[in-house]
Amino acid sequence: MRNEEIIETNKTYWNDHADLWFGTTALPEYGVRFPTEDDLHLFGDVSGKSMLEICCGSGHSLLYNANRGAKELWGTDLSQKQLDNASKLLEESGCQAKLICAKMEDDPGIPKEYFDYVYSIYGIGWTTDLQGTFDKIASYLKKDGIFIFSWHHTMNYCIAWSIEERKDIFFDDKPVMMKSYYDESHFRMPVHDGEIILCNRKMSTYINALAKAGFVIEQLVEESDKASLEATGDIDIKTKKAKWMPLSFCIKARKL
Ligand SMILES: C[S@@+](CC[C@H](N)C(=O)[O-])C[C@H]1O[C@@H](n2cnc3c(N)ncnc32)[C@H](O)[C@@H]1O
Repeated sequence: MRNEEIIETNKTYWNDHADLWFGTTALPEYGVRFPTEDDLHLFGDVSGKSMLEICCGSGHSLLYNANRGAKELWGTDLSQKQLDNASKLLEESGCQAKLICAKMEDDPGIPKEYFDYVYSIYGIGWTTDLQGTFDKIASYLKKDGIFIFSWHHTMNYCIAWSIEERKDIFFDDKPVMMKSYYDESHFRMPVHDGEIILCNRKMSTYINALAKAGFVIEQLVEESDKASLEATGDIDIKTKKAKWMPLSFCIKARKL
């Protein structure tokens, strides 16, 4: 599959469906059935800091950091519709941010060695060029600057819950490996009345690309939230899965 086709397909999806996702994958949430920033405190004190969000979507994480005293906020996203929503949200809240419509695979002229933090909540996995994206992010950060991102956990796409997710082929209620952990090829996925194209990267792919870009990892979070772990009785499939494996992961890295 060509990268241009992947990016165009995803851009169309996000422009057509931005309103459906308004504020759904934003700080303090990092991901599905996952501890929040209120539990993890990965950012620490951001007051007076300059911050760039990659794939800023509807702007709720920018607003979150503005409310915590960040001095300067920038956001980039592939979808102009997402940025229009972000711009309205921030304006209505009296916050200022510089919003740029660009794919993360490109550098749209972002200043170098400038930011204290670069972060992305459920955004990085969309890239068609992981190494290039991490290299660019490293170039935007000051020395010792922090990069934090969250994404789907690789095992989440590899494992299905047999009865609910594949009633057609399984009769026992158990987790089943449906896809090779090593398969990083792109696949199409119908969502709502549209389609997205994603791939499922190994954990080592992320870690090695970070190391190559000049980052040291300070924390890798692979957990499920307390509520899921403690849930009992008649529980939904996501909670059931979260009791067995992390559905999301989050990395905090520092630029050397
Ligand atoms: C799951 S959303 C997360 C958004 C954000 N965390 C929020 O609070 O709305 C993923 C975002 O990534 C953007 N995106 C997808 N592919 C991209 C790419 N190649 N470059 C930049 N942004 C991209 C989408 O437009 C969408 O806004």
